Amino acid sequence: MPRVLAVVNQKGGVGKTTTAVNLSAALAQAGQRVLLVDLDPQGNATMGSGIDKRTTTRTVYHALLGLSELASIRQRAEKGGYDLVPANRDLAGAEVELVELEARETRLKAALERVAMDYDFILIDCPPSLSLLTVNGLAAAQRVLIPMQCEYYALEGLSDLVATVKRVRANLNPQLEIAGLLRTMYDPRNTLSQQVSRELETHFGDKVYRTVVPRNVRLAEAPSYGVPAVLWDAGSKGAQAYVALADEVLEHP
Ligand SMILES: Nc1ncnc2c1ncn2[C@@H]1O[C@H](COP(=O)(O)OP(=O)(O)O)[C@@H](O)[C@H]1O
Ligand SMILES: [Mg+2]
Repeated sequence: MPRVLAVVNQKGGVGKTTTAVNLSAALAQAGQRVLLVDLDPQGNATMGSGIDKRTTTRTVYHALLGLSELASIRQRAEKGGYDLVPANRDLAGAEVELVELEARETRLKAALERVAMDYDFILIDCPPSLSLLTVNGLAAAQRVLIPMQCEYYALEGLSDLVATVKRVRANLNPQLEIAGLLRTMYDPRNTLSQQVSRELETHFGDKVYRTVVPRNVRLAEAPSYGVPAVLWDAGSKGAQAYVALADEVLEHP
């Protein structure tokens, strides 16, 4: 069975999508069979994987609502070397429609089970909220990867996230564990960054990934070409960080 990792943080702009896309590409480069699920109506992971969300008619929304099988929704992200379940703004309405349905929290899990044997890793790029969509991501996952920026407010909201993980573990998914905290957009010249980074290590110990993702312009520009930075500029510091992260994930899957 595949390892299923949900990339979660209810804050926007902390590097969830960048992590989901580049970790998927790096794992694929390492020979793993990878499925990336875009679970955010913004569809950034879809566009960043080179698939046009505007012309995609069947998305994760259709899988959640039971309108299509994932096997017929997934597409090949050619450049990245992984499969993608796309998302677009259709998904924004799913929240409301899901509430009416049976097993509304485990619909993604059920849909993924039917394609699970095709993959070694399934990554889920969650939206910036602790909504029913994110709960679907957490219910389907074994492990949670939490990207965070090393800034003053980094820890704010972490307790809400941890509480949500505990609630999902108690009610829906007893095996759910936090895989690790990932420091993103790190600026080594910024003393506050350094301080927050050290605090994270002190408080969370080996739950903090050794790999630190630096602030790197290649990571920010790659999405506009629809190519993961890991391939767009393999020599860049940002790409190298995500290759190192993939090694860590493979070490402790
Ligand atoms: N390490 C990084 N260095 C520079 N820019 C980054 C880095 N990580 C992410 N970005 C940029 O920051 C913005 C937010 O990142 P994103 O991955 O979309 O966050 P989220 O999915 O958490 O909202 C995007 O424009 C992205 O390209
Ligand atoms: Mg995102």
